[in-house]
Amino acid sequence: MDKMTLNYPHVPLRGTLDVPGDKSISHRAVMFGGIAKGRTTVSGFLPGEDCLRTIECFRLLGAEISRDGTDLVIDSPGIGSWKEPEDILYTGNSGTTTRLMLGILAGSGVHSVLAGDESIAHRPMKRVTGPLRQMGADIRGREGAQYTPISVLGGPLQPIDYEMPVASAQVKSAILFASMRADGTSVIREKEVSRDHTERMMRNFGMEVGTGNGVITLRGGQDLVPAHVDVPGDISSAAFFLAAGAMVADSDVVLRNVGLNPTRTGMIDVLEEMGADFTVDEADSDDSELRGTVTMRSSALKAVEIGGELIPRLIDEIPVIALLATQASGTTVVRDAEELRVKETDRIAAVAEELNKLGADITPTEDGMIINGPTKLSGAVLDSRGDHRIGMMAAVASLVTDGPLELQGPGCIAISYPEFFGHLESLRGE
Ligand code: S3P
Repeated sequence: MDKMTLNYPHVPLRGTLDVPGDKSISHRAVMFGGIAKGRTTVSGFLPGEDCLRTIECFRLLGAEISRDGTDLVIDSPGIGSWKEPEDILYTGNSGTTTRLMLGILAGSGVHSVLAGDESIAHRPMKRVTGPLRQMGADIRGREGAQYTPISVLGGPLQPIDYEMPVASAQVKSAILFASMRADGTSVIREKEVSRDHTERMMRNFGMEVGTGNGVITLRGGQDLVPAHVDVPGDISSAAFFLAAGAMVADSDVVLRNVGLNPTRTGMIDVLEEMGADFTVDEADSDDSELRGTVTMRSSALKAVEIGGELIPRLIDEIPVIALLATQASGTTVVRDAEELRVKETDRIAAVAEELNKLGADITPTEDGMIINGPTKLSGAVLDSRGDHRIGMMAAVASLVTDGPLELQGPGCIAISYPEFFGHLESLRGE
């Protein structure tokens, strides 16, 4: 296994970063471009491993996709003229690719088989295949289509009126993609609002979608008009440097082009409550996705309570927020976050076990964790467990440990943030 030694003893972080493209929006840009007939262009695309898997899936379905760095040109024959893939659609580590593709393929005219890596093989798929089957989709898979490999025989679909049992943008988006091909109007009801990039991008591609009060309404059979997508930076990637800037003494970090979609900015709210010293300058833009510059300076931090509707707005940031809480005074409580148990790894166990190896005081609970701070952290051997966000949490932890930290399995960080270590070095003036 790959490993690296991180020896960053409390050096302040200073400088400016352009945050890499948003992972969720990059996936969706390729998906809409692959469904729409004609040419779609994308700028600011994230060339992380997960999003590259999505590109490969659409190539196998007959779209021509060329990439020059973070620019894409997608020429698609349109979903109605896709070819049947000659190989399995391999989704790697990407839950977003796997779940959203299920929804897209259900209403296509092709037969396909989806499979991913070992982590994907253990992630729950029934939450998607269940409602898709209710719509009439022909889907088979391991343990009653709970786990990959899963095969989909695309065909006609009926609309659905669906109340979401979990707050999940992946489930919602899979149902929305299937609803685009259904014969009638579908309704999706969310108790807690999850990220709404799919709904926003539908409008970019000329579709009408009703949203408000947690109810989404979509008429099937609408034409898509190919468009240009300018992907903002990923707040979930920026989160690691926001946390680092807040907790490493004498830091001053400027993060440009941070996506500020309100369904994603829960961490900003938490940082404010913790007493972090930062400013947010929204950029002028006529785009459907807000973006701006966040400037973070280090300060004394205090504990917070996190739960309820905030959880879907910061679900991917909880590992790094937990690290931040180890440096804050008081007891931080995270609750209602049981979804963390079915992410790339069980992130409740991973965060508590890995950070406790450094001397943190974290007690895992069924749906979250209790963190007592501040604690002094010392170097140790940590394992990313193949989970990019656990890997980055560990790397950021090394900025506040006494003594070097050895990180096993840092390679997975390229799943969402290939430039992570380069950006870290650049903020340390190296
Ligand atoms: C994502 C939704 C979230 C998030 C994941 C990306 C998306 O997952 O954790 O990293 O792009 O829709 P869930 O929908 O399972 O909550």
